Amino acid sequence: MTARHFLLDTDLTSAEQAAVLDTADRLKAGRRTPGPADRPLADRPLAGRSVALLFEKPSTRTRLSFDVGVAELGGHPVVIDTASTQLGRGETIEDTAAVLSRYVDAIVMRTFAQERLERLAAAASVPVVNALSDHAHPCQALADLQTIRERRGRLAGLTLTYLGDGNNMAHSLLLAGTLAGMRVHVASPPGYEPFEQVVRHANEIGAATGGGALVMHDALEAAAGADVLYTDVWASMGQEGESDSRSLVFQPYRLDEKAVEVARPDVLVMHCLPAHRELEITAAVLDGPHSVVFDQAENRLHAQKALLSLLFAAPTTGSATTGAGEAGEEGTVR
Ligand code: CP
Ligand code: NVA
Repeated sequence: MTARHFLLDTDLTSAEQAAVLDTADRLKAGRRTPGPADRPLADRPLAGRSVALLFEKPSTRTRLSFDVGVAELGGHPVVIDTASTQLGRGETIEDTAAVLSRYVDAIVMRTFAQERLERLAAAASVPVVNALSDHAHPCQALADLQTIRERRGRLAGLTLTYLGDGNNMAHSLLLAGTLAGMRVHVASPPGYEPFEQVVRHANEIGAATGGGALVMHDALEAAAGADVLYTDVWASMGQEGESDSRSLVFQPYRLDEKAVEVARPDVLVMHCLPAHRELEITAAVLDGPHSVVFDQAENRLHAQKALLSLLFAAPTTGSATTGAGEAGEEGTVR
């Protein structure tokens, strides 16, 4: 039996994505009643199972929400900073995958290159989940869709405008958003756009779901009439050395009051966090009435529990893709 992985947003079909969001809403609504130990087994799909949570980069939300989420599903989380393991001393990802597969029932990993996740999944006999790579952040996108849907009651037909770096977050919003039938506009400085093949893939998905993707260079033009305004850091983890030069290039893409003014009056303001007030977003907007950033953070817990429930509910053979071609085609994976 082939393990079911979640390495990229497109490892779920549109229908599966909607089912995960439904489950996430149900888990959120019932979280406190009854207590975790009294829940029916159906809501504890990880009972008797262990999940390794491997981190090669820092994390607050992902680490905490997976740790708590696995425990709430009845499982045992094992959180590991890889620098303290033999992986940090050069043991191969393949040997690590084989060894961990003997101990745990799933591996959640935050790393740099997407290719590392693909190699881990290829060598593991248990499900592998992308907890952020340079290329994508699909668990965050699931939580974001849950947040938008609970505020607006739907996803299809809404326009999400992302301002800033065409990074992992932009990639996941393009793919997950179009899977849900949304229009996703990305406004980035020239040279910092999302990968072309991701935009192309998003438009292919959109052709089937009614969504679509558009890359622009004018932030206000992109923000006009948007249902959702989203931004992320200008220098991602691993790009700290470029922070100063990026701060100059990205100034016109700050999510500020002007962008909010041209969007819909009920626009949702989103950021995956951590945020830098007065850099990619003004404090007034981040902390203002349109902001739903802490709902997004909370929904990481519910969406990931729903995702893990799906991966364990019905292991399938061959239905999940790895997204390997997409991340690999460009040579340099973000
Ligand atoms: N949004 C997000 O993934 O946050 P962390 O880096 O704190 O996990
Ligand atoms: N693009 C950011 C997301 C952090 C959650 C990064 O990779 O650092």
